[in-house]
Amino acid sequence: MDKQNITVLGIESSCDDTSAAIIRDGVILSNVVAGQKVHEEFGGVVPELASRAHQQNIIPVVDRAIKRAGVEKESISAVAFTNGPGLLGSLLVGTSFAKGFSLASGIPMVEVNHLKGHVLALFIRENGVEFNPPKFPFLCLLVSGGNSQIILVKDYLEMEVIGQTIDDAAGEAFDKCAKVIGLPYPGGPHVDKLAKLGDPSKFVFSQPRIPDLNYSFSGLKTNFLYFLRDNLRENENFITENINDLCASLQFTIIEILLKKLKKAAKQTGIREIAVAGGVSANSGLREALKQTAVKQHWNLYIPKFEYTMDNAAMIAITGYYKFLKGEFARQDIVPFAHTQL
Ligand code: KG4
Repeated sequence: MDKQNITVLGIESSCDDTSAAIIRDGVILSNVVAGQKVHEEFGGVVPELASRAHQQNIIPVVDRAIKRAGVEKESISAVAFTNGPGLLGSLLVGTSFAKGFSLASGIPMVEVNHLKGHVLALFIRENGVEFNPPKFPFLCLLVSGGNSQIILVKDYLEMEVIGQTIDDAAGEAFDKCAKVIGLPYPGGPHVDKLAKLGDPSKFVFSQPRIPDLNYSFSGLKTNFLYFLRDNLRENENFITENINDLCASLQFTIIEILLKKLKKAAKQTGIREIAVAGGVSANSGLREALKQTAVKQHWNLYIPKFEYTMDNAAMIAITGYYKFLKGEFARQDIVPFAHTQL
């Protein structure tokens, strides 16, 4: 197939961000993301409200993405959409939109696994920016609100999970611990900000002892909660007086846990091409720690641009592009899945 002028419209609606993006021949032309403020007062995503907001957002977001890209609707070759994992009601909105767009335009649909999308965000090219993607095979630490995995990436669409969390994800650990110290949802970015002002060695929290390349964050969460409970008994202002140090120490522990297994995976596989992806890879402490580890371990490190680490449709469009090249299309009777594996 001729690889020129393949224009993919990507749709992402797996959680609480409605996003649409246009990618032509692997180069990003637009990436529009509409967040949903409606969840803030609930301290977490309310699935029913999320799907309603997606319904309101999807058409204006797609319209904006097409206009911003400066392409004609008729020039779009395929529509790629997230079909899981995610919230079922949210996924249904994107999937239904993709079906309608595909039928109305007479173009194929491409289903995209959200987690693969996070990994392939590393391959989004930007006009005028040097393109330096990881070389296969590489290891990708995928850390988001729903996942913490170490993935062996053998090719664009050939990936193997070699380690993963057995309970909570790293993003959940950030968000749930942030909630108990009164920070707004999602807590990860707030912890990141306050951690910059605190002492990471002030408090010591527990780290899991589990075999292989797997992760666990539920013990840390419980340890953090009990630690606060005990200290609040003696000083009711403990949290406010120590919030920066609490954030710095919590963040330090999460990063230690993540890096320990990543180093082990690199050693076991002998791979030095190391990448990071997913929302938590926006964390400034994690980025810095990865850079320092890369120097010590002689890794080639790849970190996606900030806007491609969070949920976004550019990563769905780029994955759709590679699937399009392989002729992997979805049928009109496809349904989304809340719990799909990579
Ligand atoms: O990839 P993402 O946007 O959504 C999922 O697919 O889960 O990741 C969202 C997660 C949330 O848990 C959020 O708190 C976390 O990424 N996050 C961060 C930071 N920015 C986002 N965690 C720590 N530090 C950050 N700067």
